[in-house]
Amino acid sequence: SAESALRRGGNGPSARRLFSSISAPDRKVAVLGAAGGIGQPLALLMKLNPLVSSLALYDIAGTPGVAADVSHINTRAKVAGYAGEEQLGEALEGSDVVIIPAGVPRKPGMTRDDLFNINAGIVKSLCTAIAKYCPNAVVNMISNPVNSTVPIASEVFKKAGTYDERKLFGVTTLDVVRAKTFYAGKANIPAADVNVPVVGGHAGITILPLFSQATPASNDLSHEDINALTKRTQDGGTEVVEAKAGKGSATLSMAYAGAIFADACLKGLNGTPDIVECSFVQSSITELPFFASKVRLGKNGVEEVLGLGPLSDYEKEGLENLKPELKASIEKGIKFANQN
Ligand code: NAD
Ligand code: LMR
Repeated sequence: SAESALRRGGNGPSARRLFSSISAPDRKVAVLGAAGGIGQPLALLMKLNPLVSSLALYDIAGTPGVAADVSHINTRAKVAGYAGEEQLGEALEGSDVVIIPAGVPRKPGMTRDDLFNINAGIVKSLCTAIAKYCPNAVVNMISNPVNSTVPIASEVFKKAGTYDERKLFGVTTLDVVRAKTFYAGKANIPAADVNVPVVGGHAGITILPLFSQATPASNDLSHEDINALTKRTQDGGTEVVEAKAGKGSATLSMAYAGAIFADACLKGLNGTPDIVECSFVQSSITELPFFASKVRLGKNGVEEVLGLGPLSDYEKEGLENLKPELKASIEKGIKFANQN
């Protein structure tokens, strides 16, 4: 194989050709909102990712400093900062993956939907630019309310004639990260070994962790335990908002989750097999047009939206209960995109 040829120490032209064929291809990642609470640590983590060759950091202000800082790290990615709308096109051009953590975060007492009025407009204008400058990019939407911002993005792309449903993702990885951590804690098993699918959407009861499918399975958890784990996962964002007491919402754990998801997208684009993550995508596994579930990632984005698998009665009930709210949030986003 190419790898064993390299291990044998070949360094002639054929070895070089072999090496280039197994090294990661050039990939440009753009972060929109890169000077923010999520954007900065996410920029750091993407700079550490060896699959990234070019990292574009865009925000309305503050990105030259973030970019200069991150650029001194001696890893592969070339870093550039872009500030202000007139530089957005240049930031986006040639991007393979665009990550969007732009917009306002919650304060105590707010729901994610309370962010709609400000963030819907931000997402719409950023997606309009994506359609123009990098219509083939994979989009990772972090800005809240995700249940509405993803449908907004889809409508903007449809109007521009660039919509590819395989390339639009609402990032729900933080729900998975939380479900894994809380489950591991309760079941007293190492967090790194745990897997828990989380389906539905990304707000309150629309977040539905499937602990009946958690691996490794635990026989020690009672129905009360599962109920408490489910509630804690659903309220994980609020737990952080309240602890930060007016200084915003999850940023560090979100940057970690965003970096995991972007890495999965890059691996998919590069043809790495069996890359599966939960994400909020266009879907036909329920009657709702968008739904979070396990998704297999490939060279064109979504390769396959995986089904829900067997659900416990408790999860079946949770699934039915979440549908009206999720449906309303999706419709609100679609309506906004078509009226404004
Ligand atoms: P923040 O206020 O710290 O940072 C947001 C950044 O967006 C700021 O730097 C701001 O200048 C920038 N911004 C605003 N308008 C912009 C525009 N038009 N173009 C580019 N950048 C723009 O907020 P944060 O804590 O980083 O959170 C950002 C968003 O992510 C919020 O909407 C929050 O609710 C959401 N969030 C989502 C998840 C998730 O799981 N999907 C998790 C945490 C936070
Ligand atoms: C989260 O889940 O942490 C984010 O959606 C931010 C929030 O407002 O809770």
